[in-house]
Amino acid sequence: MEKVLELISKEVGDAFEAAGYDRELGRVTISNRPDLCEYQCNGAMAGAKKYGKAPFIIADEVAAKLQDNEMFEKVDSVKPGFLNIIVSGDFARSYIVRMLHEKRFGVTLPGHEPKFIIDYGGPNVAKPLHVGHLRSAVIGESIKRILKYTGNKVIGDVHLGDWGLQMGLVITGLKEKKPELCYFDPDFEGTYPKEAPFTVTELEEIYPAASKRSKEDEAFKAEAMEATKLLQDGYKPYRALWHHILNVSVNDLKKNYKNLNVDFDLWKGESDAHETIPGMVEYMKSHGYAHESQGALVVDVAEETDTKEIPPCMILKSDGASLYNTTDLATIKQRMEGEHPEGIIYVVDKRQELYFTQVFRCARKTRLVMPETELHFVGFGTMNGKDGKPFKTREGGVMRLENLISEIDEKMFARIKEGNPEISDEEAKSTAHKVALSAIKYGDLSNQPAKDYIFDVDKFTSFEGDTGPYILYTIVRIKSILRKYEAEGGNVKEAKLGNPDSPAMKELMLNLTRFADAVESAAKDLSPNRICGYIYDLSNAFNSFYHGTKILSEADEYKKSSYIALLAVTLKVLETGIDLLGFDAPEYM
Ligand code: ARG
Repeated sequence: MEKVLELISKEVGDAFEAAGYDRELGRVTISNRPDLCEYQCNGAMAGAKKYGKAPFIIADEVAAKLQDNEMFEKVDSVKPGFLNIIVSGDFARSYIVRMLHEKRFGVTLPGHEPKFIIDYGGPNVAKPLHVGHLRSAVIGESIKRILKYTGNKVIGDVHLGDWGLQMGLVITGLKEKKPELCYFDPDFEGTYPKEAPFTVTELEEIYPAASKRSKEDEAFKAEAMEATKLLQDGYKPYRALWHHILNVSVNDLKKNYKNLNVDFDLWKGESDAHETIPGMVEYMKSHGYAHESQGALVVDVAEETDTKEIPPCMILKSDGASLYNTTDLATIKQRMEGEHPEGIIYVVDKRQELYFTQVFRCARKTRLVMPETELHFVGFGTMNGKDGKPFKTREGGVMRLENLISEIDEKMFARIKEGNPEISDEEAKSTAHKVALSAIKYGDLSNQPAKDYIFDVDKFTSFEGDTGPYILYTIVRIKSILRKYEAEGGNVKEAKLGNPDSPAMKELMLNLTRFADAVESAAKDLSPNRICGYIYDLSNAFNSFYHGTKILSEADEYKKSSYIALLAVTLKVLETGIDLLGFDAPEYM
């Protein structure tokens, strides 16, 4: 469906042409002086030089051509040569009615369904999920939903960190703690137990202890490295143990992500790349892409136009061991061969930007991807505490994601109970969780991904201002009015939208017509913050309308029906917006 700006620009372009000027001059934008007009065109200013005429003469001529046009309520030519445009109420109304008939409210859908893989989450097995992994999950989930909504096929892959030294550390730590386990008996010949020899809590204690120890104790570290190598080379007892670590960890991760409303299609990890590595290395060597450098195998990825040094991409270490790079490249090879995606999107901490520059260049140079394959790095900034330093617990430790969420859940529970003492604990709990998720996710997504931001619980959970709970509150307010309307015998589905009868109503309607623009721009730039900006503006426009309009007490049935219809569209659009951000609204708050 053509966007409002396109429709208006076409009409204004026609007028330029009819007046004897280039129609391209008719490009219209949203007004930056909303007190004067809704849309504006500066084409006469641009045309003045070309046509050797004063801009206001051109503007006058064009305005004259638009006087009887039904699309507009008013087109003014103002000095020195602007066109100030106010569209007609009927144009706004009929646009919204058409939007409702269209698929996805008029978002332009591609002719085919391009396939993308999105790599996000990226938790490390055996380490508890901490707030550092929150951003990847929240941003990735939203980008996935936005791309699906705009007509792409999207496969989300969690890409577990399940293959590096941390696995050797856990194995070695466990060996110290429980040396009697059969996995550590080289003479054991039976079958390994199905039950894991540890709980997730034990597992989460082993890793940090082992990691700390390895920094102080050389021998321990050497043993962990040896264990890692044995595991990667297929040593059976360690593979068996590794499966336990993976299962226990993944079960826990699934619970955590579910609680966050984050969902992956694939639960693959670095380890899945293992089988592909030897063939890929051979290929890179035999095609002359990779060469030896100080014993290691590398691919040069520097380019002439580089302004800073881009080091070579290391494929194998001098001891022949593979690295994070190697698993990522082999994963690209698998993804290309298995899924033939048009692009791969990585949502990872922006401190890994240089690393991904190397990996992407290497993948292109070695032709693991096609020249037209899109490789996107969505690097996100750090989530800081109020002190401007990376977010920590009150005691200064790493904050577990679980604890962060339950703290906010509890806070919201208390607030909801306070506001509605009659609400059952069960409902209050479910509502509190919805509100908490909106606070956490909107607080994050309303920033550009690359920006660091301050996680300010008080601000994020406020029911006023640019927050998730404010959006939910607006939605709940609309739901409550519609419920009352139906309780009084009205039928929301039969309500008919009329032309706006107040500036606030028109402003709300014009905001609604911009939905597809917002979603398309969020998809194009992989920026969920565009959706936040849009639904915040829409919520404000709705609340201004609401505060200035009698809705249920309106005596004129025609007007009342029109208001109800407008509320129903606003609700649909807001609910779609928050769904794209990855949260939903309760019935009451
Ligand atoms: N596990 C990694 C980390 O915690 C993130 C993985 C990102 N994805 C990737 N394909 N490298 O830093």
